[in-house]
Amino acid sequence: MRSSLSVATLVAVVSTVSGSVSPLRESDIEHLHEVNQGPSESVFFLGLFPTLLSQVGGAPNLIDTLLGAGKPTDTPTPLETSSAEPPSPPETVSPVETPTPAQTPSPADTSTPVEIPAASDAPDSSQGPTSPQAPVSPQKPSSSRTPSRSPSHSTPAVSSSKQIPAAAPVSSTPATSSAATAPTTLTYTLTPASSQSSSSSQVQTFTTRPKPVSNSPTFAPASKTCAPNWQPSRGVFWLDQQDHKGQGAGLAPYISEDNSYPVYRNVMHYDVANDGTGDQTANIQKAIDDTGAGGSRKGNGVTRFPAEVYLPSGVYQLGSTLKLTVGTIIVGNPNNPPVIKASPSFRGQFLVLGYDKNNGNPETSFMMVMKNVILDTTSVDAHVAITALQWGVAQGSGLTNVEVRMPTGPGTHTGIDIHAGSTIAVTDVRIFGGATGIINSNQQVNFKNIHFSAVGTAFSAAGGWTVLLQGATFESCGTAVNMTGNGLGSLVLLDSTSINSGTVILFHDSSRDDGNQNSQFIIENLFHDSQHPIAVDSNGATRLGPALHIDTYIWGSRVPGQYEAGKSFVTQRSENLLVGGKYFTKAQPTYGEYGGDDIVNVKTVSGHVVKGDGRTDDTEALNAILLKNAEDCKITYIPFGVYRVSDTLFVPVGTRMVGEAWAVISGYGDAFKNPRQPRAVVQLGRPGDVGVIEIQDMRFAAGEILPGAKILEINAAGAQPGDVGLWNTIVTVGGTAETTISNSCTSQDPKDCMAAFMVMHLTKSSSAYIENFWGWTADHNLDSESLFTIISTGRGILVEATQGTWLTGTGSEHHWLYNYNFHKAENVYAGLLQTESPYMQGSGEYEKAPAPWFAYAQYGDPDFSWCSTDDDKCRSALATNIDGGSNIALYNSAAWAFFDGSWNGLYNQPCEGKCQSNMMRVVGSPQNLVWYSISTRMTDVMILDGKTNPTETSHPGGWEGIIQDYSQFSA
Ligand SMILES: *[C@@H]1O[C@H](CO)[C@@H](O)[C@H](O)[C@H]1NC(C)=O
Repeated sequence: MRSSLSVATLVAVVSTVSGSVSPLRESDIEHLHEVNQGPSESVFFLGLFPTLLSQVGGAPNLIDTLLGAGKPTDTPTPLETSSAEPPSPPETVSPVETPTPAQTPSPADTSTPVEIPAASDAPDSSQGPTSPQAPVSPQKPSSSRTPSRSPSHSTPAVSSSKQIPAAAPVSSTPATSSAATAPTTLTYTLTPASSQSSSSSQVQTFTTRPKPVSNSPTFAPASKTCAPNWQPSRGVFWLDQQDHKGQGAGLAPYISEDNSYPVYRNVMHYDVANDGTGDQTANIQKAIDDTGAGGSRKGNGVTRFPAEVYLPSGVYQLGSTLKLTVGTIIVGNPNNPPVIKASPSFRGQFLVLGYDKNNGNPETSFMMVMKNVILDTTSVDAHVAITALQWGVAQGSGLTNVEVRMPTGPGTHTGIDIHAGSTIAVTDVRIFGGATGIINSNQQVNFKNIHFSAVGTAFSAAGGWTVLLQGATFESCGTAVNMTGNGLGSLVLLDSTSINSGTVILFHDSSRDDGNQNSQFIIENLFHDSQHPIAVDSNGATRLGPALHIDTYIWGSRVPGQYEAGKSFVTQRSENLLVGGKYFTKAQPTYGEYGGDDIVNVKTVSGHVVKGDGRTDDTEALNAILLKNAEDCKITYIPFGVYRVSDTLFVPVGTRMVGEAWAVISGYGDAFKNPRQPRAVVQLGRPGDVGVIEIQDMRFAAGEILPGAKILEINAAGAQPGDVGLWNTIVTVGGTAETTISNSCTSQDPKDCMAAFMVMHLTKSSSAYIENFWGWTADHNLDSESLFTIISTGRGILVEATQGTWLTGTGSEHHWLYNYNFHKAENVYAGLLQTESPYMQGSGEYEKAPAPWFAYAQYGDPDFSWCSTDDDKCRSALATNIDGGSNIALYNSAAWAFFDGSWNGLYNQPCEGKCQSNMMRVVGSPQNLVWYSISTRMTDVMILDGKTNPTETSHPGGWEGIIQDYSQFSA
């Protein structure tokens, strides 16, 4: 994945190898700031949201203050004492069109603004949200340091009350896999803010859309449950109880023969204090950087020096920025998450810097995960410009169960700055306080279940091409989403809730722009309880006034049709995809409630020898252990290593598998070499199997050229949605140290390196939830071999499933026939589908698709028969192929093409004109295809459908083309 081109990209790539060129100088990103003594009086309430709400309800005019319309100099009454106080008279809050300020009390002024019974989906509701922010502009070519657009990212000046309690703790209870039983009816007790009705509240009841899936006949009852055999303790986490020194330790096989490299590091073994004192930066940094033998992890890719860095509970005070490295998972104790806290005298722009300059540009800052941690800047003066997390990272990276705490009230703190970078999933994050919650300029991001509380501007769209904000909650925020800078191509705000907050979307109206039309958006399934307008343009004109519920509202281009400058309509959703009226989601399990004998380390099972050394065939032993663990209700822990399998690794229902820092399962051998009889390297269940399979933090790979390897095959279905799931999981074909593909694939003719049959197959019987998945056919080598590689993988992700499929934040890159294929698929939800076409297709290509592969009807392969025989540009990979099926809902497609013909590995010869003729294809008249926010690049026809065949030229926006609503086949 690399969406960079041109020389700058080359520089980035070279820096991966040599470590000698950094795209961003230290001085560019890290300015020291003198920080004065910060206020440390912030009161933290651990109460949950209803409590918070009622407190906020009693607070004086919070929302107005947040909006900057109150009396900024007033100090609001502290929450603890506010309940008895009458609200102060409100001042004007709404920018435009609302009655004069004094007459319009905001909801915050009323004593009980809102009561919301659990409306969010249960599985994730206990998890803390995380948010990234990005200060820098998101511009296109990832290699370019100069943004092509000029998104402004000045920190909004927002004043706010100081009294909002900071955060509820990051969840201490792991999400369960059971279906939510959330009510489908929301009862709001709402006091209208109209000027005359001052007295009584009205109760409004309205029913959300479709019922929980648990009532659906398509899901059979669970066959078995696996309760913990262990007494949970807040101070202990099973991961730290594993054998990390002896036989059970992770092994990084590609460093040296005599390997003392510590994959696992508990920071407490590095002279770190976790009692909130001192400056722990240097020693935690040592824990992250440790190689066990001197030298550096930096600039060595993702496979040689992987690290799992554990933070036990406690408070870790930092005096300066902590810097992360690619190939790292930072994990806190989920039972009592650690707090990484800036000291009052903190020096630096970022508390934690995720972007790893040693691996190139942000667009190649791959594979970095942070989970179960709290980032806290509350001790730093609110007017010092500090950012809790710089998260300019790329594919394979993720945040999950992260919380950010910042001072409330006027100030300049930013929670997460997602400064450039490429596809990532930011999931289950909570952000409290601060001027800006998340500022984003990453190319494309799926934000899922982000809870913003008392933030000035929750989400600032500084740049990027497409953003999905799914399941966001804006609680007592000044502004929810700010798109007025016109830096972002398009956005979907999905299944979100605005409570006691200001305008939901401030945006630039591009409906009459010449050339590119950016800042397009769709709002779908929004609850909004205040009297502030929902959508306001940058001239201050209200375009969508207040309403308790919006089904769907579009500001953007539509096919068939034209640019809709504000139009409401209804989206038909399949009930099979919903829980509590929202698309089902599920947080990454932590298994925090398990311990002791509940966990089995595959390397310490008596009677079985498992090596993970990249040489031994571990197939039999692993298969036996997985089977036994499923029968015994054990969780399977796989320390880092490269586990070679010469035949299918069968993952039975009942499996719960956790990898250490993306432990690798690598297929090799004759079993996977016949493209006429493709065989799964890793197979989840058999057709018809029903039960639980959960997999996280693993990488599945082709260890050599394997034209018959289907790397992942999922057959199992959950008894409940999400019972079968993958989180933070990666498939790679080439590009890494453990595969011979890295050195052997240099022929210009892709038939010489038909390296895998397919990345992932979701078969007809399957039902799975997949979050933060990256399926990558390498376009370059990550782990310091020669950069140059030419690989052809037949197919990307094939979805034939019918019972319910959820894809949250996925990327599928450089696969030959297609990156995504929905073949007679039914009941599919996908949020963010990011693709890149293979660089060596198109004009001057050696092989015209489907060649060198065969198109198989039984796999629903597109055969390119619609192209004339010698049409290079037509015979190029489809980003997404949709063939028949029903109830398919796709959000935020980001489909990019950059290069064509011979590949020189230099990223310096972009296509002349368009790279390919067609990017997407729809055939077979799918029933109710909902497809929002489609962005493409370097293609002629955006969607080949035989009906409208919309082109980039007629839908200019984003990187090249945007269709905000493709409704040709919607119900
Ligand atoms: C919205 O963004 C614009 C442009 O970046 C900025 O000038 C303005 O202050 C922001 N407003 C809010 C409320 O965040």
